[in-house]
Amino acid sequence: MTILQTERLTLRPWAPDDAEILLEMRANPEIAKWLGSPEPWTDLETATNAIAMWQHAVNADGPLGTWAIVPNVPNKGDSAPVGSVSLGQIRLGDEIEIGWYLHPGAVGRGWAAEAAATTIRHGLASGIARIWALMWRDNEASAKVARRIGMRELGVLVDPWYGSEQDAYSRMFVARPDMFE
Ligand SMILES: CC(C)(COP(=O)(O)OP(=O)(O)OC[C@H]1O[C@@H](n2cnc3c(N)ncnc32)[C@H](O)[C@@H]1OP(=O)(O)O)[C@@H](O)C(=O)NCCC(=O)NCCS
Repeated sequence: MTILQTERLTLRPWAPDDAEILLEMRANPEIAKWLGSPEPWTDLETATNAIAMWQHAVNADGPLGTWAIVPNVPNKGDSAPVGSVSLGQIRLGDEIEIGWYLHPGAVGRGWAAEAAATTIRHGLASGIARIWALMWRDNEASAKVARRIGMRELGVLVDPWYGSEQDAYSRMFVARPDMFE
């Protein structure tokens, strides 16, 4: 798994020592409710296991993975993650989606957009034909990220992957190589 650098951030693999901060994010219902698996995590073991699973992918070939978003601090080495960005197969499908979330203390600085744009460029440059961003239709903060980085907004459409009887729709964005040259 490639470590990615942006102007202000390092996107690196999640490490076992990050479990507590990961749990803090994923236990927060205000973050969890927007994610594909919306149940807040309740214990450290879940975070530890998730990191171990993501680490599995670290040595795998190909552009998919889950990166910890770590701000670059001058004259300091690695520091604690402030969020996560991932490229993975969409549930029940072969298409690729990007996912992102930030610690509530890290929003409002453009970090999600910066991390997402770099991750998409990396994925597309590695041969992925298109990358989706799928979100609940009322997730305005997330829609702003997708718009800010120039993904194409397809609108609120019936979602073949995450749609349910309660809500068949998602807001959908897509990125293709010609849009991110
Ligand atoms: C979605 C989420 C990551 C967005 O975080 P965010 O910080 O608003 O997004 P960005 O990193 O793009 O930052 C944009 C904000 O930073 C501000 N900003 C400050 N400095 C900036 C800079 N140098 N560059 C860009 N934006 C900057 C922008 O003005 C913008 O604020 P605004 O929304 O009030 O206009 C965050 O709300 C979150 O984690 N939500 C819960 C999980 C979630 O919904 N995930 C997506 C599931 S589909």
